[in-house]
Amino acid sequence: MGKLLSLKLKIWRQRNNKEKGFFKTYHVNNISPNSSFLETLDFLNNQIICNEIKKESSPIAFDHDCREGICGMCSLYINGRPHGPDNLITTCQLHMRNFRDGETIYVEPWRAKPFPIIKDLIVDRSSFDRIMISGGYISVNTSGNPIDGNMIPISKDIADKAFDASICIGCGACVVACKNRSAMLFVSAKVSQFSLLPQGKIERKRRVLNMVNKMDEEGFGSCTNTKACEAECPKGISTEYISFMNKEYIRSFTI
Ligand code: FES
Repeated sequence: MGKLLSLKLKIWRQRNNKEKGFFKTYHVNNISPNSSFLETLDFLNNQIICNEIKKESSPIAFDHDCREGICGMCSLYINGRPHGPDNLITTCQLHMRNFRDGETIYVEPWRAKPFPIIKDLIVDRSSFDRIMISGGYISVNTSGNPIDGNMIPISKDIADKAFDASICIGCGACVVACKNRSAMLFVSAKVSQFSLLPQGKIERKRRVLNMVNKMDEEGFGSCTNTKACEAECPKGISTEYISFMNKEYIRSFTI
């Protein structure tokens, strides 16, 4: 099982969006290197709930759902990196063997204006939902005579490109890794996963215009090609999709 770890966790506590937040220090012992980062927070919360930690009334609020890298809910800055020190994984897939015994670990919520803090480590990412509502969908024939998707020929390279874009889980790591707080990687993945496929061509023009306009309206910054988003994306989404989206955007004015 490996040597159990003793860690010093400096965790951001903030009661709500109106009050100021601060780092609070917690000492946790007997952490298995095979446990996940979220399990360590569970362990600490259990101690808080059981009054084993003095003068601490409420457990640490953090987001999670699937705990297997699918839903994108578990979004934390850990030691200054979105999703922590490992690559191509989400926070829920991060294991404590990535840390040294005695290490100090800083845990913070996403820091971006379009993701306001709700409490402690939880932020409001509904700005992403509003971008999706503005155009992230396809028209489906519900007349009772739908076309079988398998009857539409799609070349392998296009199918692969659309699939690679569709694995974006909307966690927001791309935004908080970017010095401009740009959401271009997220929006471009969503635009591409639909617009590359024949089923998504109907709203192609409207989709890119609406989603890019909504992204700007929500207060996300511009892309200056530093590729920090690609470097920190837990799903390895390529910035090539940003180029594709830019072409789609220009094309929407010319056809
Ligand atoms: S909890 Fe779903 S991706 Fe981490």
